[in-house]
Amino acid sequence: MENTAAIRIEGLSKQFKDTTAVDRVSFRVGMGEIFGFMGHNGAGKTTTIKMLLGLTKPTNGSATVLGHDIVRESIAVRRVSGYLPGSYALPKEMTARAFLAYIASMFNLSAKEAQRKIAELLELFDLSAVADKKLGGYSSGMTQKIGLAQALINEPQVLFLDEPTAGLDPLGRHEFLQHIQQLARERGVTVMFSTHILSDIEAICESVAIMHRGRLVAADSLARLKQQHHEATMDGLYLKLARQQEATA
Ligand SMILES: Nc1ncnc2c1ncn2[C@@H]1O[C@H](COP(=O)(O)OP(=O)(O)OP(=O)(O)O)[C@@H](O)[C@H]1O
Ligand SMILES: [Mg+2]
Repeated sequence: MENTAAIRIEGLSKQFKDTTAVDRVSFRVGMGEIFGFMGHNGAGKTTTIKMLLGLTKPTNGSATVLGHDIVRESIAVRRVSGYLPGSYALPKEMTARAFLAYIASMFNLSAKEAQRKIAELLELFDLSAVADKKLGGYSSGMTQKIGLAQALINEPQVLFLDEPTAGLDPLGRHEFLQHIQQLARERGVTVMFSTHILSDIEAICESVAIMHRGRLVAADSLARLKQQHHEATMDGLYLKLARQQEATA
């Protein structure tokens, strides 16, 4: 296991004034895995992801992404990573094509390379026909696809998705999850996937971590966790662990 971890987190903590957002968290995400990241609102998921991407500094502890230290080698981490934030406003006046070109320029892709990559992503997400329309007119499903497309522009080996399917209709969600699965299967991309939607976890994740008030409650393969806690479903498992935490809080 040791040499196949894409993400290693060791005693990672983040303190915001009087809030301990992340409290001595340690776990590993295997190479090529789709890893579910769960926990109540305010559990520390987004803060953990932001620390891994170098967007906020840990107060304590350490972590690596593909062997790169998240503090000392944050530029290398960013180069191999893609990020779909939980919420961000797309520039309404820009077309999808122009927006993707702008993101490509941040990764120093040549104009030719960028053009090829953008065409490929627009095709992949079935957005070619609307690529020259302004993003302000996009539906939430289309917006989410553009969000995923921008996260893939640098052909990342590790993908961080923060609640990517929130607001999608059932078909849109299904298609989005299929894209994620395809990326993992066909390109070996490691995916860390934060969500409140337990059926999404059940559908595509092999392993999960569950956080509660900054602390790690469990991190293991889904099959092992279900077996260990005698729960057949993700709903049953999550509710059991969450209630246990509430009872001991
Ligand atoms: N910039 C900040 N300044 C102060 N406190 C913060 C900041 N960012 C997050 N927090 C606090 O840290 C804790 C963890 O927040 P975080 O956003 O990581 O949770 P989350 O698990 O992503 O929750 P959600 O499911 O609601 O997205 C919360 O108590 C939050 O209020
Ligand atoms: Mg969050």
